[in-house]
Amino acid sequence: MREITTLKLRKMKQDGTKLVMVTAYDYAAARLAEEAGVDLILVGDTLGMVVLGYDTTLQVTLEDMIHHLKPVVRGTRRVMVVGDLPFMSYQVSPEQAVVSAGRLVQEGGAQAVKLEGGAAVVPAISRITAAGIPVLGHLGFTPQSVHQLGGAIFQGKTAAKARGLLEDALRLEDAGVCAVVLELVPWEAAELISRRLTVPTIGIGSGPACDGQVLVYHDLLGLNPEIRLKHNKVFAEIGKLTSAALGAYAAEVRSGQFPAEEHTRRMDPAAWRELQE
Ligand code: KIV
Ligand code: NA
Repeated sequence: MREITTLKLRKMKQDGTKLVMVTAYDYAAARLAEEAGVDLILVGDTLGMVVLGYDTTLQVTLEDMIHHLKPVVRGTRRVMVVGDLPFMSYQVSPEQAVVSAGRLVQEGGAQAVKLEGGAAVVPAISRITAAGIPVLGHLGFTPQSVHQLGGAIFQGKTAAKARGLLEDALRLEDAGVCAVVLELVPWEAAELISRRLTVPTIGIGSGPACDGQVLVYHDLLGLNPEIRLKHNKVFAEIGKLTSAALGAYAAEVRSGQFPAEEHTRRMDPAAWRELQE
């Protein structure tokens, strides 16, 4: 049993301890994240954009998600690993949803799954939680609906829209979610939802009143330096550092500076003499 459980998430909210979540898609990143002390790792379908080079999350498949969940699970022992249910792996029916969620757990090793949407996904959430799989909801900007929403736009800006979000959040809680991700929800609306829910909210671009925060690994490390998002903070310019390091490597190979004596080894002098005979 891992240290971070659904019970622990609820307790952290009660105690006012912020939940820290970050995405990861491979073994090395997962190890670094756990070592840094994060509570939850999301193998998000942002995989499609930051790792696989797609324009949206819509092309990501359940097989892709399982493939990337496995190394993240292997690289961690303590954190809760959450697997995103990708587009069209849960929208068809509650039965499809539970089968897909089951694969993320059974084949991928996830401890919980996440899906996007409000009232429409309540039957799927009920079915998955009834199978004993913890579910996280995801409201506000839901990237799998990007074509319908018209872009990565804040949701819940008017009183009526914010009230709608709150109603959706309460429905998700009734259906049994263990947490709700709020993406691009205005600060005040996110605060209201966080106060009204018993389960924690985890915000991205949704202000400091959320019970926890999530950021995309590649965003917070500046790994795609040409992408600058208002909601993101670059905590270290690892993308720029990486480019500089790769450039230095190329230059040293071309100049003959690398590899040096210390990066290789010599034969025994006797073996060398014999080789020259
Ligand atoms: O896929 C993802 O990384 C996400 C987070 C942005 C919440 O869903
Ligand atoms: Na996602």
